[in-house]
Amino acid sequence: MIDITFAKPVLPQAGAVALMLAAHDPLDGLAAALDLALDGGLTRALTVAAFTGKHEQTATLLAPGAGLDRIVVVGLGDRDALTPHRAEQAGAAAAAALSKDAHATIIAEALSPALLAHAGLGARLRSYRFDHYHTQKKPDQQAKLRHVTLLTADLARARSAFTPLAALAAGVERTRDLVSEPANILTPAEFADRAETLESLGVKIEIFDRHDMEKLGFGALIGVAQGSANEPRMVVMQWLGAPRPDTRAKSGKKAGKAKPHDPLVFIGKGVTFDTGGISIKPAAGMEDMKWDMAGAGTVVGLMAALAGRQARVDAVGLIGLVENMPSGTAQRPGDVVTSYSGQTIEVLNTDAEGRLVLADVLAYAQKRFAPRFMIDLATLTGAIIIALGHEHAGLFCNDESLAEQLVAAGTATGEEVWPMPLSAAYDKLLDSDIADVKNISGTRGAGAVTAAQFLQRFVDTSAGAMPWAHLDIAGMAWASKANGVTPKGATAFGVRLLDRLVSEHYEH
Ligand code: BES
Ligand code: MN
Ligand code: ZN
Repeated sequence: MIDITFAKPVLPQAGAVALMLAAHDPLDGLAAALDLALDGGLTRALTVAAFTGKHEQTATLLAPGAGLDRIVVVGLGDRDALTPHRAEQAGAAAAAALSKDAHATIIAEALSPALLAHAGLGARLRSYRFDHYHTQKKPDQQAKLRHVTLLTADLARARSAFTPLAALAAGVERTRDLVSEPANILTPAEFADRAETLESLGVKIEIFDRHDMEKLGFGALIGVAQGSANEPRMVVMQWLGAPRPDTRAKSGKKAGKAKPHDPLVFIGKGVTFDTGGISIKPAAGMEDMKWDMAGAGTVVGLMAALAGRQARVDAVGLIGLVENMPSGTAQRPGDVVTSYSGQTIEVLNTDAEGRLVLADVLAYAQKRFAPRFMIDLATLTGAIIIALGHEHAGLFCNDESLAEQLVAAGTATGEEVWPMPLSAAYDKLLDSDIADVKNISGTRGAGAVTAAQFLQRFVDTSAGAMPWAHLDIAGMAWASKANGVTPKGATAFGVRLLDRLVSEHYEH
């Protein structure tokens, strides 16, 4: 993690500088002072680079003089089109351009203190590295950036705007750490232990082992887990941040007994490795299935962000953790299991395992917590990648207003989602000859939709509305190259999106 600090505007005398300019802004203030210190070198460089300040435009000056190692000029786009997301992208572009410098100073006089804080967030997020297993690294491969200082006359405002963003960044980093970890290290039990560390942020944690889930009747989840030597877990994480009339309930003896009120419920698919089981996957690319727990990783990071910034909301995260392996004890195609909801499921393809895990966790979450809404995140289908590529997550939702809020939060954060259909005609494709439902449709088309339809069978609307959204993040959880605020690798897609959804619509 790099550290982000704020300081009064003084022209830096050493190190690297990122100068952020809005479109067609003249050089004034510190930028003019910098130009003067360089004998007009900045003006000349911007002319040569045909720099106009367009969004995402950058120009780099090496050893420009005045004691500086490097200057990168970053375009902010039009002044009236500035948004937190734009500021984050500019911060990310600056951090990427200055990754070989140990210390960078950001000058961005067009940004308000609040937007400057977002630039700091972007710089921090883009600078994330997962380096636990490199024991040797050539110096030229190393990212050196450790400190970023953002200059502002209004230190107090910038710092207070950055405080919740630092908690959000910590949540994103926590998710990326989990998603990056190889499956031999991050077993379901290890994952649960790491989730348990959220207790230090005031999150109440419960861990269910195989025995506990057998007693509850989680036949669908356990069927997936039964082929693996690594036993399954479910983790329930409760953050009770909504203001309570009786404050005594928040502390002392009663703390353990406080119950969430109309909580927002987030559910994650946590398949720590997906071989496909007996319906085994081909070898090529199977290593990607270490990140088949990204939905669960995102829920953990989101809970960390909400607790870390003391969000005024009750939120519950539930994650189903299993490893999908072929073995002598593995489930077979054709097996019938009984889910927590009571519905029986014909398992025709053991590689359609995420939906089996989520079926039990969704039904349990609804029954126990009477949620205000439920949102699940899952790397559920390859089919969503065929449909939407790596630009949008698939959004499946039974509630129009929740869907609209999610689309808007996606646009605001750059973690975009695209609405996909649900309907009785797709649902019908899941009727089984032998059980209540089968886990694949058996037709070639609409694989992401039928997966969502399967989940919907475990959302109970018989006693009234139950707003539910499913985000298929299979195309978004892992990036093959760096882009915007995400380096190559685990993205933590969904943490910023859902944090925004909560802060925008659900906090008291
Ligand atoms: N984890 C996979 C989906 C996936 C694929 C995620 C590629 C990320 C990248 C999921 O469990 C799976 O195997 N789905 C099958 C479903 C099929 C058997 C109906 C798929 O998409 O092929
Ligand atoms: Mn699978
Ligand atoms: Zn899977």
